[in-house]
Amino acid sequence: MDYEHRPVMPGEVIRALEPRSGGVYVDATVGGGGHAAMVLEKSAPDGFLYACDCDDSAVEAALERLAPFHGRFDLRRANFDTLGEWVPAGLCDGVLLDLGVSSAQLESGERGFSIYRESELDMRMDRRSALTAARVVNEFDASELARVFRRYGDERFAGRISRAIETRRRRAPLRTTTELAALIEGAVPMRTGRIHPATRVFQALRIVVNDEYGVLERGLEAAWRVLKVGGRLVVISFHSGEARIVKEFGRTLSRNYEVEGDVDEPEFRRPRPPRLRNLTRSPVMPGEKEQKRNPKARSAQMRVFEKIYAP
Ligand SMILES: C[S@@+](CC[C@H](N)C(=O)[O-])C[C@H]1O[C@@H](n2cnc3c(N)ncnc32)[C@H](O)[C@@H]1O
Repeated sequence: MDYEHRPVMPGEVIRALEPRSGGVYVDATVGGGGHAAMVLEKSAPDGFLYACDCDDSAVEAALERLAPFHGRFDLRRANFDTLGEWVPAGLCDGVLLDLGVSSAQLESGERGFSIYRESELDMRMDRRSALTAARVVNEFDASELARVFRRYGDERFAGRISRAIETRRRRAPLRTTTELAALIEGAVPMRTGRIHPATRVFQALRIVVNDEYGVLERGLEAAWRVLKVGGRLVVISFHSGEARIVKEFGRTLSRNYEVEGDVDEPEFRRPRPPRLRNLTRSPVMPGEKEQKRNPKARSAQMRVFEKIYAP
């Protein structure tokens, strides 16, 4: 099967996870299985890997890629926010979350993730779910659309774009990626930067279609639970919204207190041991060589945490 994806920061990921024989690991975003195969190689002869992806074609590709390690992995089609349901708590030495879309998804002519590929407006990572980008674009009211574009895409022209969508869809529903990209190009002032003017809207649609922020918050929590004390959590994010959630998760779990309710003021704090230690004060980024070889890796940021306490 043709599933192109070059794993990001392979050396850095392996140094962070330190796979060893007898260890138990999780690749929660297995994609084409690039990182997973490395973990299984480094933890030979008897390291074990739990792996999942919510995309059926990724699971199919990873199964093929990991076939030489038969008997040493459990690979399923699942969302990583369900890890706690099928990976035993407190068992794992390392968990990897390599977020976002793979090159195979981006370059597929039918998934709708790319501005540059004519395709139905789909953008579902899990094709069993009901919400597609076409439904968001054609069914959300204009004010809700503007909120989505602002909140998940930091889009300056969210109002203009959502009004243009509303006007256009009165004639006929928007069906394809290229229709939407062209509509956005016409709705905003002339492009100045390097990125396509529809980039932020496409990102926002993908986040909302896949509930990426809610899933990430629940997934980080689940990853922490399946780790043993001393185990490592490695997270690679690709944009500021994801990074914000990862940083906030790290900050909250490494505090020596918990907060009752939502307001973090001294009077609402209760002491408790920190759950995590942050091993990367600033995020690790791909080196120059990798950035040249793989331009998609440019925005990647890796953060590593160690579980230090289990209640
Ligand atoms: C950047 S790729 C991972 C590539 C992989 N590390 C490799 O070496 O080939 C991200 C993968 O995460 C998957 N994914 C995204 N959100 C997910 C979720 N909530 N649960 C499970 N998989 C998810 C995507 O389908 C995609 O295959």
